[in-house]
Amino acid sequence: MRCRCWWMIMDDVNTSTTLLALLALLASCTEVVEGLHITKVHVPTPVAVGEGGVLECEFVDEGESIYALKWYLGLDEFYRWTPAETPQVKTFPVRGDPLAVDTGASHRGRVKVYDVTLGASGVFRCEVSAEAPDFHTESDVATMVVVDLPDEDPRLSRSSLSHQLHEAVSVNCSSTRSQPPAALTFYVNQELADPGWLIPYPPQEDPETGLETAVLGLRFPLRPRLLQGGAVSVKCTASIFDLYWASTEALIPADLPYHASIMEGRAAAGRGWCARVSNLARVLTASVLLLTL
Ligand SMILES: *[C@@H]1O[C@H](CO)[C@@H](O)[C@H](O)[C@H]1NC(C)=O
Repeated sequence: MRCRCWWMIMDDVNTSTTLLALLALLASCTEVVEGLHITKVHVPTPVAVGEGGVLECEFVDEGESIYALKWYLGLDEFYRWTPAETPQVKTFPVRGDPLAVDTGASHRGRVKVYDVTLGASGVFRCEVSAEAPDFHTESDVATMVVVDLPDEDPRLSRSSLSHQLHEAVSVNCSSTRSQPPAALTFYVNQELADPGWLIPYPPQEDPETGLETAVLGLRFPLRPRLLQGGAVSVKCTASIFDLYWASTEALIPADLPYHASIMEGRAAAGRGWCARVSNLARVLTASVLLLTL
């Protein structure tokens, strides 16, 4: 098929007016000539550091004999399958050891990798080449994202331990040392926080490891309607793709003396009794809150 196409081109090649038609013909010839082609290149993604998965490169040879199938990470070849050689499967070290290959579980284009590091994030290329004389070569790529999960659950820190009503409450949520930085979300009393209350901060990068600490601020006025049992609940969740999810919750109490005086004002009739009860309530609530903090 290839020869016939080329002969047709040779016949007409001196006629410049037919050049466009020839180019179109050449394009269609090239398509017909392609016996060997790659039908699928897939890599697991995202993958957590230390984990792995199966790389897949599928091809149809349509009569052409395969000389070799190679997998590259960036520019580095780390796997080669040569059906005519013994052993058929060979592996090659890659700078920085970003992954390990389970040779026994790998064959043709299917390669089992494990122990990936952040260095395995990047473009994987599968290249399939035919035997002589053509050495027809096809390649295709897929991208792997490796994720380093946070060391610990998200942490809440606040400017002060209790607040008077209508005072601004400031809370920070941080999720430490991950790659990429975790996505943080605030909930107030189990409802998504008002976007106007959020203060975004750029992630802090650890210069040694390149890992990042995500920080999100929350600042809102402590309105009476937010109080549930004398406190407002603030929850922060941290997530990275579908590989990681964690949450931390804290109760932020309204300042109790102020709270009590409002209660006293409302219950003016039984003042003395109410004050004693609210004093007791104050002590009880304070101890409960101390326990929850
Ligand atoms: C929140 O974090 C930012 C940035 O690190 C810092 O400037 C701010 O003081 C923190 N606020 C609180 C309430 O911890």
